[in-house]
Amino acid sequence: MKRIFFLSLILALALTADAKKKQSVPPYKDPSLSVETRVVDLMSRMTLHEKIAQLNQYTLGRNDNVNNIDEVVSKIPSEVGSLIYFGDGADLRNAMQKKAMEETRLGIPILFGFDVIHGFRTVYPIPLALGASWNPELAGEACRVAAQEAYDAGINWTFSPMVDIARDARWGRIAEGYGEDPYLTSVFSAASVKAYQGDDLSQPYNIAACLKHYVGYGASEAGRDYVPTEISRQTLWDTYLPSFEAGVRAGAATLMSSFNNISGIPGSANHYTMTEVLKEKWGHDGFVVADWNAVVQLVNQGMAKDGKEAAMYAINAGLDMDMVDNLYMEHLEALVNEGKVPMERVNDAVRRVLTLKFRLGLFENPYTEEKPENERILLPASLEVAERAALESMVLLKNENNVLPLKSGQKIALIGPLARNQEDLLGSWFGRGRAEDVISIFDGLSEESGIAVSYAAGCDFDGDDKSGFQEAVNVASQADVVVLCLGEKRKWSGENASRSTIALPSIQEELLAEIVKAGKPVVVLLSNGRSLDLTRISPAADAVLEIWQPGVMGGKAVAGILTGKYNPSGRLNVTFPYTTGQIPVYYNHRESGRRGSQGLYQDIPSTPMYEFGYGLSYTTYDYGEVTVSADRFTAEDRITAKVTVTNSGEMDGKETVQWYICDPYSTITRPVKELKFFEKKLIPAGDSHTFEFEIDPMRDLSFVNGEGERFLEPGDYYIIVKDQKVKITLAD
Ligand code: GLC
Repeated sequence: MKRIFFLSLILALALTADAKKKQSVPPYKDPSLSVETRVVDLMSRMTLHEKIAQLNQYTLGRNDNVNNIDEVVSKIPSEVGSLIYFGDGADLRNAMQKKAMEETRLGIPILFGFDVIHGFRTVYPIPLALGASWNPELAGEACRVAAQEAYDAGINWTFSPMVDIARDARWGRIAEGYGEDPYLTSVFSAASVKAYQGDDLSQPYNIAACLKHYVGYGASEAGRDYVPTEISRQTLWDTYLPSFEAGVRAGAATLMSSFNNISGIPGSANHYTMTEVLKEKWGHDGFVVADWNAVVQLVNQGMAKDGKEAAMYAINAGLDMDMVDNLYMEHLEALVNEGKVPMERVNDAVRRVLTLKFRLGLFENPYTEEKPENERILLPASLEVAERAALESMVLLKNENNVLPLKSGQKIALIGPLARNQEDLLGSWFGRGRAEDVISIFDGLSEESGIAVSYAAGCDFDGDDKSGFQEAVNVASQADVVVLCLGEKRKWSGENASRSTIALPSIQEELLAEIVKAGKPVVVLLSNGRSLDLTRISPAADAVLEIWQPGVMGGKAVAGILTGKYNPSGRLNVTFPYTTGQIPVYYNHRESGRRGSQGLYQDIPSTPMYEFGYGLSYTTYDYGEVTVSADRFTAEDRITAKVTVTNSGEMDGKETVQWYICDPYSTITRPVKELKFFEKKLIPAGDSHTFEFEIDPMRDLSFVNGEGERFLEPGDYYIIVKDQKVKITLAD
């Protein structure tokens, strides 16, 4: 009996101690409670200053984005809500986090973010290239690689995916998005968000996503960065909002407001987009962070007379966190006390920020394990993903007389400014990537057995130095085939990198013209961050391969395609205009009032050089007849369209079937055709595959009006695949 008594006593004492311990732990520190409960408890304890501190983001570490004035905050307040972290490993951020957890009254962890746009250290192809793979699952794999490396470096939030629709290749940031089409970009938007975030943000290697730049940044007039955009409500809804809505529906934790002025109201002070659409209509429960200095730029844009008024407009419009310009820290307390900013708006913003921190598990796991580099970056499995992403994104634009793939035993003259280049294959927004990590085209090709490679630079990217031409022609003359590597420097695209022409510098075109005189077959490789004017390049070359900016595995992927180990499967996700003068030119345009020969340019063709969706293969695909399960239907029906594709060539290959719809007559006129579904499949040589598209009329045939309401009108529609158009009719 005594024994039982003593055991019971010990148990009672233990339970009491535990209860007391629990009582001493405030609810917000109790992971067994719901996030909502913890947020309410924490906010009840916070001062106004502590709340406002959560709505500010500064930088930590060496800021290497040249477009953002290096405003490293010398003294970072420990209660700051977030930091942009410029670090290769977790040590510095852990030290800063320790200050936040141990030196502040409430111990609220800092949220560390960074631009992990197409890889952290394992840099894979730029997003424009990933979109050209038409393989969102592969893009997701790449995002998982980025998330793992970022997470291991102490970053819990990436300012990615960039899902701006861009139709003007003069705009350098076309490189950062998935292209010109709202549907394709929407699919990649959702895939990227899900890949970054996983199913549970509190689990390792899941990081918060940030859809950017919200919204319409890609419509920057004349392709100049940071300038106003003219976007009607109709166009906002049918072109620029869909990729953000898709990302929000996929669970994106945050969005970033855009620099551009949206027809008079800048994106960072736009109540309609940030509150009425995003938070009220779509019910987004995350938060919106400003782009760099976007709040203070409201003064430049002529909306606010000073920083205080800018902060007022921004927070009241729904901008929750201020990036770097410190205006919320400086002015919000006064604005609240003056009644110019409702306390409920501040509370709502703080609630959103804290909710993400709880969901990320930062209160329980504020620190990152500091692993050695060889356990967390450039891992073999990561490089394998980067190689596949590069392989699947490259687009074969021309291949006369099947000059590609190269034949074993051929002597190859590798020429041009990009032939031995590493740095520029990384592209813009290369994260913590390093040139030395990149396999150059020369190194990639030299590794291939049976290929003898000679080299000459020929010329630089630009300038007028032709002194290298003769050597290049000599090297070409002694080879069987010339591979000429042309293109852009990585800093010619990306932020603040607008160009007045999308043609390459004439020195590169002149080198091509000289090389052609050697009389050998010429394969042109293009490494660039935008569509290009190829009017003087494509006709002169026997083959043209668009390799984009393929990242660390670029040279290996190029060699794989040139030697035929991999059959190119990329398809253009942006139109290649005939010349800069055609811009804007995109496939999903509305009809002209005059068809046929009227309304065309007098001096150049009015059709682009290469269409959206275009790309060649080393094999041939024969499309059977498109069939539909019914050609008359009601809005409640589902129709299945089918097409059988046969690989009639000698080489296995991946084909992407692109399903478009056309609504020829609509009370709001619609584009001549709209991509509504696509599927990429490996079809072995000689085999066939039947592709299906199940049409949900309200999802696939409806249109949206200027208030974001979807409508579906009876009448004829067409399903378009390649050159086939099949009519279906929605009954009254
Ligand atoms: C930049 C870019 C934005 C980036 C942010 C933080 O100016 O516009 O895309 O995420 O600042 O670097």
